[in-house]
Amino acid sequence: MIKRETIDRIFDTAEIVDVISDFVQLKRRGTNYVGLCPFHNEKTPSFNVSQSKGIYKCFGCGKGGNVVQFVMEHEHMSYPESLKYLATKYNIPVEEEKTSDEDVEKRDMRESMMVVNEFARKYFIRQLTEDETGRAIGLSYFRERGFTDQMIEKFDLGYCPEGKDTFTEYALGKGYKLEFLEKTGLTIVREDWRADRFSGRVMFPIHSVSGRVVGFGGRTLRTGDKKTAKYLNSPESEVYHKSKILYGIYQAKRAIVQQNVCFLVEGYTDVISMHQKGIENVVASSGTSLTEEQIRLIRRFSENITILYDGDPAGLKASLRGIDMILEQGMNVRLVMFPEGEDPDSFARKNSPDDIRTFIEAHQEDFIQFKTGLLMDEASNDPVKRSEMISSIVRSISVLDNNIKQSEYIKSVSKIMDVDEDILYKELQKFRYKHLKDKQKQQKRQQLHDRNAPTPAVPSNVTNIIFEEHEKEIISLLLTYGNNVFSKDEESGVEHTVADYIINEIRNDELKFENFLYDKLFEEVADLLTSGKKIDQHYFTRHPDSDIAHISVELCATKYYLHKFWEKRGTYVQTAEDNLKEYLPNLIHQYKRKVMQKAQDKTVKRIKALQNKDADNKEIYSLLEEKRNIEKVISLLVKNKGIVIMR
Ligand code: CTP
Ligand code: MN
Repeated sequence: MIKRETIDRIFDTAEIVDVISDFVQLKRRGTNYVGLCPFHNEKTPSFNVSQSKGIYKCFGCGKGGNVVQFVMEHEHMSYPESLKYLATKYNIPVEEEKTSDEDVEKRDMRESMMVVNEFARKYFIRQLTEDETGRAIGLSYFRERGFTDQMIEKFDLGYCPEGKDTFTEYALGKGYKLEFLEKTGLTIVREDWRADRFSGRVMFPIHSVSGRVVGFGGRTLRTGDKKTAKYLNSPESEVYHKSKILYGIYQAKRAIVQQNVCFLVEGYTDVISMHQKGIENVVASSGTSLTEEQIRLIRRFSENITILYDGDPAGLKASLRGIDMILEQGMNVRLVMFPEGEDPDSFARKNSPDDIRTFIEAHQEDFIQFKTGLLMDEASNDPVKRSEMISSIVRSISVLDNNIKQSEYIKSVSKIMDVDEDILYKELQKFRYKHLKDKQKQQKRQQLHDRNAPTPAVPSNVTNIIFEEHEKEIISLLLTYGNNVFSKDEESGVEHTVADYIINEIRNDELKFENFLYDKLFEEVADLLTSGKKIDQHYFTRHPDSDIAHISVELCATKYYLHKFWEKRGTYVQTAEDNLKEYLPNLIHQYKRKVMQKAQDKTVKRIKALQNKDADNKEIYSLLEEKRNIEKVISLLVKNKGIVIMR
């Protein structure tokens, strides 16, 4: 258990905008920051971060929370893991109630795997830099390749010693479990033997966006041996998802934001050589063709992507389809072809930083023009191929979500290929229609999905939807304006706060919120005030009960809507507080009417049921009496606008 004081310190120190900026590109808008939500796919930003409140909230998918919850959600970490992550980021020593050894066992699987990876990372680095054999074999290889010590350190490069299971034995000796060595893929386990997967290889750790090691790539040093694969990677696992990771993203993300473009290369060595020449906005998709998740990962930092391709037209043709997908995600794609026989790695090694930049600048081609040129060479005089090609290019144009762009492309493609614009437009129309249909289908599916999934904006514990809106607003006002003065007793000069008013209204009429989280929050606020304290929003948004914390964030963010609501009704308000004197009693009044209405409906139902059963008249009479009482209260409510004792 992490000590409460430590938790408080972490919350006080960790600035939410700073923390989220490590993962999401945020722009200032008024007092808030906005960006593209990392939790769902969107093209216009609805992800809001409030520095002063210390919360984030997406008005698109409804996800929201405090700084620790962001790390939990985004990095799939547990509560203590997230706290420790932030503690490390801000150099805060973590004090724990009761420490370690047995804790290690308790941590969940993912964490255990990460811990094993971290151990392996350090071990491989030591082998590379301190061990005599490791230096002689591994380090000298990297030096021969021209990697500087600075790069070796920056990318955590290492060496796994030769031998069947040197690393595994060492790890087991240090108390790491075979289970996790196997799950991470560092050890290959069969019934009667086990072996190091990366034995005798130089090691390239693969980092998550936040810099944790999730997997490894290992390159063999046995050149000429055709039987050994040149590169081996960690297998898919709970922590390593090939399709979601981009090699180098951790080291590149700041540069990608700064330069507002991401360079995509093929592999480890390309990324490192480019970095060494000061070009740091580079990531690699590691062999596989780009996935949608990887594109989304890049798009968090920039919408521009330039693919650096090492001059193999066959390989390029295979990935053209993948590039259509990038266009569909609303990214701007450009391509740079390297000279015959060069990849970014070899090119970067031979040239100065300025020359590299100049080369990229001069050779980057817009994707569609590039594709046209490439296909043109192939299909020159074959009419069937030619029409296939036209169709393929127009399909690429059709996924652009910008009509002006589309017509510009049609114009230029018409020129390059010597085809009538009208023909291209007809073809375009076909694809547009198909996209429309696809989109509709997808929307339907999404709607169905949404209907089945719980709507995140409404807390999952809503038992009675009739009261939800009012309860939510009352609690929201309690949290946001609770400390404000609501009224002043002229004679005694005693001031009553908004919280006093709300608590009195609810308590006097013995009302209880249907949503038990609101009820819990209400009771906690009441206790706080009874003990002479003030309402502190942070106390609630950072609440150790994560349900309470979530709901508090939700409610504090709701203020945003409230403003809108008031404005819509035509009463222009300068500050929300100004209008509270009118709005709050009204709200309470409406809420009480709803409560009474429900009580009345219930009574009427019971009366009817009894009448159907020919039941005892006495019971019916007493119910009718009850009904009359309720009606009285309702009419009083109407008259007095909520200021009434309901019993
Ligand atoms: N790559 C890979 N798997 C392979 C071959 C290559 O993942 N079987 C990736 C690696 O990330 C590598 C990049 O593609 O960094 C470039 O490949 P290649 O030039 O073959 O690797 P190098 O290590 O540069 O080998 P060489 O020294 O022979 O150029
Ligand atoms: Mn190479």
